Amino acid sequence: MQIPAKEKLNPKDDKDLLAFVFARFIEGELTGLLEGKAILHAPSLHEADFLAGQIRDEIKHARMYQALYRSLGMGDTPPRASWVLTKIMSPVSGRMWAEHSFLDKAVGERWVYSMMQFLIQAVDDSRIVKSLKLIAKDEEGHIAFGEEQTKAYIAVSRWRRYYLWGLYLRVDWAMALAHRLLRYRFKKKGSIKAVKLLDSYFSDARPRNRAHTASLLGVPEKRSLWQLVVCQAVFTWRSFWSWIL
Ligand SMILES: [Fe+2]
Ligand SMILES: [Fe+2]
Repeated sequence: MQIPAKEKLNPKDDKDLLAFVFARFIEGELTGLLEGKAILHAPSLHEADFLAGQIRDEIKHARMYQALYRSLGMGDTPPRASWVLTKIMSPVSGRMWAEHSFLDKAVGERWVYSMMQFLIQAVDDSRIVKSLKLIAKDEEGHIAFGEEQTKAYIAVSRWRRYYLWGLYLRVDWAMALAHRLLRYRFKKKGSIKAVKLLDSYFSDARPRNRAHTASLLGVPEKRSLWQLVVCQAVFTWRSFWSWIL
């Protein structure tokens, strides 16, 4: 995607917006510490070892984003996201291996990765771009691992494909909601540049990530409210029992 030079972000003119983005990235990376929960459910030492390495990566990424945040001169402590945005964006699994591999890694990290790729094009600052490229390289490995685990899980039955696609539909809906919320916020602040970039990111990333996930699961790219509700109910039920047991 080509972004015209005058529409690109730079640390001088777009300090607040970049600070907001880095603050959300720091929060996202710190939720990566939840991998610590998932490690207890890793099927073998190989997967546990990968997760241990991933935790180190996410801490390293959080530090890199903190350094970028500080370089904007916005202080040391980024403000927290609103409650609604946190609920929409935060990972939802950790105690169930298949769901964790799919939702947190194959899907969640791919969404983050696509945002990073967009910013690499949209930011006119070599230091920021260099950091984003370095972090994106690690994220590629996390996504590949999640996709590999997902493929092994769905190979056994058609229900599992149906189930995971139903869970993806919820993510797709949540991202549409996040788009609306952020659009409202940026519009209220009068940042037309941010609204334009946000629209251009979501209009490209949403269909692309949906198509990629459908292809990963080997299912048609069909939206069904019924499937979303049924699969979410199964997910909640399974989460409940994994919490109890
Ligand atoms: Fe990360
Ligand atoms: Fe990651």
